[in-house]
Amino acid sequence: MNEADSENIAAAFRRRGYALTDEIKKADAVVVNTCTVRQKAEDKAISQIGRLRIWKEKTPEGKLFVVGCAAQKLGGKYLKNRFPFVDEVVGAKAIEQFEDSLVAQLGPSPETETSHQNIYRSPQTAYVTIMRGCSHKCSYCIVPAVRGPAVFLSPDAILKDAAEKLEAGAKEIVLLGQTVNAYRHGRTTFSELLKKVLALPGLGRLRFMSPHPLYFDKAFEELLAAEPKLARHIHLPAQSGSDKILKAMRRGYTSGEYLDLINRLREAAPGLSVSTDFIVGYPGETEKDFKDTLRLVEEGRFSLAYCFKYSPRTDKPEMAATISETVMEARLEKLLAAVKENSRLVLNERIGKIEEVLFETETYGRASGNFAVRVKAGGTPGRMAAVLVSGAEKNTLNGKLQ
Ligand code: 5AD
Ligand code: SF4
Repeated sequence: MNEADSENIAAAFRRRGYALTDEIKKADAVVVNTCTVRQKAEDKAISQIGRLRIWKEKTPEGKLFVVGCAAQKLGGKYLKNRFPFVDEVVGAKAIEQFEDSLVAQLGPSPETETSHQNIYRSPQTAYVTIMRGCSHKCSYCIVPAVRGPAVFLSPDAILKDAAEKLEAGAKEIVLLGQTVNAYRHGRTTFSELLKKVLALPGLGRLRFMSPHPLYFDKAFEELLAAEPKLARHIHLPAQSGSDKILKAMRRGYTSGEYLDLINRLREAAPGLSVSTDFIVGYPGETEKDFKDTLRLVEEGRFSLAYCFKYSPRTDKPEMAATISETVMEARLEKLLAAVKENSRLVLNERIGKIEEVLFETETYGRASGNFAVRVKAGGTPGRMAAVLVSGAEKNTLNGKLQ
């Protein structure tokens, strides 16, 4: 979501004639888009702002904007007090309204040549936000507090955004939201929205991030089975394999239900790759709870899993970390090793098979299952082509164009 917000902010600058630069010396403005999902992210944002003091001293006419989730949590008063050289603070809840007013503070446009280069993804992939905020109350999560309750954009606005990005050259659209598959606007359900986006001219592939296990239904399974343009990959955060911990987290499912769901999705789309997120060291997590997570790693056959140490996001005593740093670290290491071993097996299963690859360069692209794919030569950026997989290395498949 933050990456998508940064792309939108960059687009607001471009509309006024500004361009991105990698050289801070050349910058008229610096926007720090902050995250606070874990304490480490917030700490990084804070030290990045601190480092910008030097730039601001050398470039007094330059504008420094701090935006996003940590800005929302900490507040403008606190940040401006701690960093008096910050010009403006805009929290995550207000980001959309402020995109243009931030640029307006820079005065007349220098009318530089505009580029439409993405910051995070290759030019053939475009993010389209379909909802903001989240109405779940997962016990560990700060997102609902900093981004507010779920608000769904209208299908018209979403289709307009997606169509513009396809016209500008994108081949792949990634629909974004905190619980993206909970989408509902009037009578339009998530699956109906997917159908409308799938019908847009120029679309090669459709992805979405991140769904919540509670919101997949029969209609989605049928659409997944019928629509090859829907990516054969789903990132579906599990968070834990222990039913006790899942309950404490208020996730609304058991590990058995989670597994049944991914099995149903794999029946609908054979070869579907599933990736996930895990948190280790949630308060009260016993060795048995942790073993349940390791078991889910094996049973889930994930292509990838992002693993995080629990980071308290409130002062509530019942949410304080109870697991020592040493134990948390040891569990994280074990989990990462299990994930690595499993994803190696999952990748090796692809050897000898054909993958549909959307190329980003002549030698690199992404398969529908979200695997990175390398070939020696012959790919055309922005085009899909079939690749016969001959080997797997780390998180990359190697192969030959067909
Ligand atoms: N501590 C650790 N990890 C967290 N996540 C969200 N909140 C926390 C927290 N307080 C992880 C979840 C989520 C991912 C984006 O970040 O796994 O899916
Ligand atoms: Fe946070 Fe996701 Fe739970 Fe919403 S559904 S509260 S964003 S973890």
